[in-house]
Amino acid sequence: MKFFIDTADIQEIRQAASYGLLDGVTTNPSLIAQTKRPFKEVIREICAAVDGPISAEVVSTDFEGIKREARELRALHQNIVVKIPLIMEGLKATRWCAEQGIKTNVTLCFSPLQALLAAKAGATYISPFVGRLDDVGHDGMELISQIVQIYDNYGYETEVLVASVRHPLHVLEAARAGADVVTVPFKVLNQLAQHPLTDLGLAKFLADWQRVPSEA
Ligand code: G3P
Repeated sequence: MKFFIDTADIQEIRQAASYGLLDGVTTNPSLIAQTKRPFKEVIREICAAVDGPISAEVVSTDFEGIKREARELRALHQNIVVKIPLIMEGLKATRWCAEQGIKTNVTLCFSPLQALLAAKAGATYISPFVGRLDDVGHDGMELISQIVQIYDNYGYETEVLVASVRHPLHVLEAARAGADVVTVPFKVLNQLAQHPLTDLGLAKFLADWQRVPSEA
């Protein structure tokens, strides 16, 4: 299972990369806005920090505009994955990108049929938003299982990238469902390593070690 980090904060990205567990980065316009810095400057910096797929999102909503942005983003760095919203114009642009050899991450997916269309359009990744579904009383993780089943049924190569992750249970369920990738906020990445019994056990080992006589 691949782990991406869902942030545009370069300090968080560098620290996550230092763990040796990071496969890529996803950003979106809201995350870029939080940095209060120019979009392309941030993306270039992320590309220099992590050698893996870096999702950068378009803001056009028409085919020609998305195509233009996709070309510009792809020219920034070879690892750029163009993030495109799941609307008909976006699917059209996704097909065009696939023909040009430009990798895509189709985002804002909330239904299995939307995911089916993205795979048919040749998306590299599909991003179902599990947390935002949970927020409105739908089971986000059920969507992941449905997409994995549909893609398996037909052998689609589009990778299921679980997005809008809010807590470790989303990561556990994504792994159980066989999702290809999970993109996690920095906080959740750190939470995955935490267990109170690990902390208690380590404290006891270190305390007991104080009673071991030193070498002669
Ligand atoms: O990048 C897309 C997604 O992960 C956003 O998450 O928490 O804003 O729903 P969230």
